Order: sequence, then structure tokens, then C-alpha cells
Amino acid sequence: MKRTFSGVKPTGHLTLGNYLGAVRRWAEVDQHDSDALFSIVDLHALTVEHDPARVRRLSRQAATILLAAGLDPEQCTVFVQSHVDEHARLSYLLECTATDGEMRRMIQYKEKGARARAAGESVRLSLLTYPVLMASDILAYATDEVPVGDDQAQHVELTRDLAVRFNQRYGHVFTVPKATYPQVAARVMDLQEPTSKMGKSNDSGAGIVYLLDEPEVIRRKIMRAVTDSGQDVEYDREGRPGAANLLEILAACEDGNPAALAGVYQSYGALKKDTAEAVVELLRPLRERHAQLAADPGFVDEVLRAGAARARGLARPLVDRAYAVIGLLPVG
Ligand code: AMP
Ligand code: TRP
Repeated sequence: MKRTFSGVKPTGHLTLGNYLGAVRRWAEVDQHDSDALFSIVDLHALTVEHDPARVRRLSRQAATILLAAGLDPEQCTVFVQSHVDEHARLSYLLECTATDGEMRRMIQYKEKGARARAAGESVRLSLLTYPVLMASDILAYATDEVPVGDDQAQHVELTRDLAVRFNQRYGHVFTVPKATYPQVAARVMDLQEPTSKMGKSNDSGAGIVYLLDEPEVIRRKIMRAVTDSGQDVEYDREGRPGAANLLEILAACEDGNPAALAGVYQSYGALKKDTAEAVVELLRPLRERHAQLAADPGFVDEVLRAGAARARGLARPLVDRAYAVIGLLPVG
């Protein structure tokens, strides 16, 4: 059976972008048709300024949301990255496989690094090396498929390059993975700024639908979404990014097609109203289940404990093999 791995960073509350781009498929498809592991990748949350208590809280919250979204611990493995040493252990070997030029070319590093420098903040070295840790997350499990939103394309491409390079130099250890993307809404945009990704750590919450937002809040945010100056509703991602974003969100909710939906609407008002209702309904079961699970943190902790034990058992032999072939003397 093929192996799937994906992860989410506990850097903020999970958003509609996380759900439509990644988490929904994990629950609806990947956990059923593959041996799937899903990780709260907490080490990645330390690459930017962070508050320790908040990261801890967000890690448990992310795990609870993943279960509320339908990840079933009987069907897949859910765990916290830092509970499994092999990720950091493999990362070092991949740092010895990657080049500094490759790292500096990563778009997310360039963007986040530039933003931090502009704000007068220092840039953590781990922000630069982060894609190597991500590659380790993926390669430690002999992953075939990585279901992600399209902002991760470059990182998965790097992961493939590192796997091929390592295998060529030292012998075949790693499976070369491929990214998979949703058919629509692979990049959900901020409702207030539809040329930027809806990201959980954006400053203002007005353009971001959080998965645990109350229905009224979701409706308000979508009704106030920025649309374009044209009167009629057209699906044009370049020219009409605001309307295109709403059409994609609606299409994702209804398993429809954004271009076809554009023909159905005479006004932005009607499109917003239907999109708001569709999102509220899509997220309703998740909200309800989250409330039940949040009342039982012992259950979530137990899922994470068992998940880490299974993940460790899978990763350990593979990472040991990488250590051996690269020239490190095995423990006698
Ligand atoms: P992150 O929140 O950056 O840890 O992302 C977790 C997963 O959600 C990754 O697969 C991302 O590609 C995906 N994702 C995050 N934001 C969006 C978005 N706005 N649209 C689509 N997918 C997203
Ligand atoms: N870098 C991913 C993001 O920002 C999160 C992530 C870390 C990930 N490790 C991963 C995703 C491994 C898929 C597989 O969204």
C-alpha cells in the first residue's frame, strides 16, 4: 500500500485554507486509500519568533482539530513531530546533502526573511534550513505521496532532489515522493487581500476564516470579502482575484467547478451569501466534534502517544540505514 505523509505547523489557528488545501483530503481520501501519517510539525513553529506556551497550546489544538476534521486514529497515524527524534536526526544528514544556494532560493525563506529584516527582527538560521527538516519529515517514512496546498510545491520538489542525490551518492535508501494537490482551492486567498495566501499567521484576522470561527463570524468575514470593480461575476484568477477566490471556495464546498459557477451568479452579493452558507455548513460537523473532543484532552493525548510510538518504529530503521550508508560507524 502506498505511504502518505503530510503535516501542519502549530503557528496559529487552522484556517479554511488549511482545510481545503490539505486537511479535508487527508480525512476524506488519504487515510482510506493509503498508509497515512499526519504530523503536527511543531519544530517548524520554532523557525520564527514564538511564545513557548502558545506553541504548546496550538499543538494540542491542531491535533484536536485534525481529529475533529475526521482523521480516525484507527485509519491513520497522528503524531507530534518532536515526539519522534528521527526527524531531527535525519535532518542533519540532509543538511550534508543540500547546498546553501538551494536553501537561499526557497521562496518562503526569501519572503519571510525579507519581512523579518524589514521589521528589524533577526532571522533564525532554522528558517533557512527548514525545508531540509521538511524533507526529513517526508523521507523518514518512505513516503510516496505528500498531499499539500500549492504553496508547498517548491519544498516537495527540493525533497525529491535531495532523495535522488542521496540515493545516487550513497545507495538507495529513500523513496522519491510526489506532491498531490486538490482539484480546486489549492491556494485559498485572503478575503481582504485576494492576491495573498490565506495564512494563519497573517496579522489581521478579517480576511481569514478560522476553522473554529462561529457561524456568524464566518458569514461576516465572507460578506465583507473584497471583490473586484466589475459588475458581473467572472472566473478570472489574474484579473478578478477576489471573485475567483470566492468561486473556488464555493466550488470546493460543493464539489463544483468555479468557471461554471461564475455563470450562475448575477451579483457578488448573491455569490457571497451562498459561499458563506456553504462554508458554514461544511465546517459545522468539525466545530461540533471539536467541542466534544476538547472536553476530553486525555483522549487526544493518548492518540498522540500511540501515533508517536508507531511513527518511531517506522522511521528508526530507515534513518539508521541512512546513517550507515553515509559513512557513520554503526554502534557495535
Ligand atoms: P501550514 O499552515 O503552512 O502548516 O500548512 C499546512 C497545509 O495547509 C499545507 O499543506 C499547506 O499547503 C496548506 N495550506 C495552508 N494555507 C493554505 C491556503 N491558503 N490554501 C491552500 N492550502 C493551504
Ligand atoms: N512546510 C509545511 C507548511 O508550511 C508544513 C510541513 C512540514 C509539511 N513538514 C511537512 C507538509 C511534511 C508536508 C510534509 O505547510
